Amino acid sequence: MTKTTTAQLFTPIKLGDVTLKHRVVMPALSRLRAHWPSAVPSDLMLEHYSQRASDGGLIITESTAIAPEARAYHAAPGIWNDAQVAAWKRITDAVHAKGGVMFVQLGHAGRATSEALTGIQPVSASADPTFTENPNVVVTTPEGLVPPSPHRALEIDQIAGILGQYRLAARNAVRAGFDGIEIFSAQGHLVEQFLQDGSNKRADRYGGSVENRTRFLMEIVDTVAGVIGRHRVGVRISPSSTFNGMSDSDPQALFEYVAERLDRFGVAYLHIIEPRISGADTVAEGQDAIAAKDLSRIFRGTIIAAGGFTPESAEEAVADGVASLVAFGRHFTSNPDLPARIEHGLPLTPYDRNTFYGGGAQGYVDFPAYHAEAVLELA
Ligand SMILES: Cc1cc2nc3c(=O)[nH]c(=O)nc-3n(C[C@H](O)[C@H](O)[C@H](O)COP(=O)(O)O)c2cc1C
Repeated sequence: MTKTTTAQLFTPIKLGDVTLKHRVVMPALSRLRAHWPSAVPSDLMLEHYSQRASDGGLIITESTAIAPEARAYHAAPGIWNDAQVAAWKRITDAVHAKGGVMFVQLGHAGRATSEALTGIQPVSASADPTFTENPNVVVTTPEGLVPPSPHRALEIDQIAGILGQYRLAARNAVRAGFDGIEIFSAQGHLVEQFLQDGSNKRADRYGGSVENRTRFLMEIVDTVAGVIGRHRVGVRISPSSTFNGMSDSDPQALFEYVAERLDRFGVAYLHIIEPRISGADTVAEGQDAIAAKDLSRIFRGTIIAAGGFTPESAEEAVADGVASLVAFGRHFTSNPDLPARIEHGLPLTPYDRNTFYGGGAQGYVDFPAYHAEAVLELA
């Protein structure tokens, strides 16, 4: 077997206050195996994350709801109460025991959800009655896939309440032992619904100009940084993605502005999903890492690039200075020891889309590490 050079991926890097020993990141992967309806992380999740922890490697949790009404999927975890904090603490302890570093991705679905999950009418930047008819948007509920419920626009005086939920979730994240927090500002969830002008038609200080549409994100970043420190806050964006019915009249201007503001603020990292990916699917095969390349000229801090990377293209991205870290989503589902496999040039086990969302142990904690697989083959 010819070993690909992965030298750059296995050099240490400081990420805010912590030092990582390598640059292979596990990004948020919603696998929908938390307890329902409590949204308490399960023992299966403990096993899953523990298997994927590596010495000096960064793991970011699946999207974790900041409040019951923020939920986006059935059997996704939350972080708004003590039972959830206690269960997350067991997970961060297990990851830390292996020398790993763990951030929690804080999420709010906004309009991309159903009352079957939230119990109340979903909210967004603006009301768009046609959204419920968008054939590309579906919500995972206990009864299966359903269209999103009709939503309403947030009143301006309700925004402080949402910031309060982010503050509580950030405090809970600290209590749960997380090393940092990633703000989920991607893939058509609430924060991105404020960013993009296809979904934000507000006439107040949260809508209109690029600056106004970025205000909600920056207030969340400021709120969360006030709890945990700006060097422990990362932000995930998906420039030009149309996932969950997103659109913008000038995505380049918008995301360059977002990158500039976050650069000025001094967050720990900017996590960029390439537009060649939509949600969990590759939509532009062969396209380069154009978003990270563009925004790395503006955001001078640490960039995590994500979406469609191979060990070879990840090494290239780091060597070329396009990104400091590279996330591997789908490959991490089926390769619990992914960093070691990449480092040693070992083959990757193909992922199984059928077990991505929901279910039990199968396809979640039963993919063996490489040496175990080799032993199995010998038996
Ligand atoms: C099963 C699955 C669940 C995902 N859940 C989330 C999520 O909760 N939050 C998020 O930001 N991205 C989520 N993503 C996107 C991944 O983090 C990643 O950006 C995407 O898989 C592209 O990377 P890849 O080509 O390496 O798989 C999910 C992807 C998959 C496959």
